Amino acid sequence: MIENLLTAKKVLVTGASSGIGKAIAIFFSQQGAQVILSGRNKERLDETLKLLTGDGHIIFSSDISKIDDLKALMDFSFNSFGALDSIVHCAGIQKTLPLQAIKEQQFDDIFNINVKSAQFIAKFLRRKGRYNVNGCSLIYISSVAAFCGEPAISTYCASKAALIGLSKSLAVELAKINIRVNTISPGVVQTNMVDGLKQQLSEEQYNQILLNHPLGLGRPEDIAHAAAYLASDLSRWVTGSNLIVDGGYSTH
Ligand SMILES: NC(=O)c1ccc[n+]([C@@H]2O[C@H](COP(=O)([O-])OP(=O)(O)OC[C@H]3O[C@@H](n4cnc5c(N)ncnc54)[C@H](OP(=O)(O)O)[C@@H]3O)[C@@H](O)[C@H]2O)c1
Repeated sequence: MIENLLTAKKVLVTGASSGIGKAIAIFFSQQGAQVILSGRNKERLDETLKLLTGDGHIIFSSDISKIDDLKALMDFSFNSFGALDSIVHCAGIQKTLPLQAIKEQQFDDIFNINVKSAQFIAKFLRRKGRYNVNGCSLIYISSVAAFCGEPAISTYCASKAALIGLSKSLAVELAKINIRVNTISPGVVQTNMVDGLKQQLSEEQYNQILLNHPLGLGRPEDIAHAAAYLASDLSRWVTGSNLIVDGGYSTH
């Protein structure tokens, strides 16, 4: 078992009240990181907090699809922890929306949380004193949906593809100040998000998703392990990359 991969790292994890973000917060704390947990639901953030290893972790609840709330989270993080070593931006939403059903508000909702927050997290991070000048790692959770077509999730797919483009440009722009920027693209991971999706599918459609993952569906911890590598010094020469963690889904 790997130990102490993230000793003394100060990390902000968004989406820490559920699923993948929750698993990342738990695993990072086991590896020695001090974590700020972000999400909207304070009760569920408190539940995650209780599961962390070590001391000094804190929560902050806000709706980071709104720029003022996101700024408040970032100010709180720097005021509490000082310069950050890493941010794992996991918060996101998925909606099944056939083209004929999409309304402007739904498009905006998906892009505000999945893309706009990612852009402004980077902007608020790059200010002087807010990131570790010896090395800082910004990680966005994209999806295989960014490059593998699936019907009725075109807005979600577009938002996840946007994250990959965003990270590649930022990786070049921020390299000179020692901030690395990478994305992780998970396949289907068993979380609340996927439970919601399952309810909208027939048994046949769901079985097809299972078949499309040669190694079966993922667990949140599978993504937490990939995120820990990208947040650690082991990946010091890795930036602008998209790490696919999908049980073989995108090999088809
Ligand atoms: N599960 C999968 O199969 C899968 C596959 C590929 C990519 N992903 C990506 O992985 C990330 C996490 O997914 P998940 O499956 O863990 O989903 P989840 O269990 O539904 O968790 C989503 C998280 O995002 C937070 N969030 C959503 N809207 C927010 C907002 N406006 N402000 C602040 N926080 C917000 C939620 O917190 P609150 O509810 O407390 O606000 C929650 O903690 C997402 O970006 C998703 O697109 C998931």
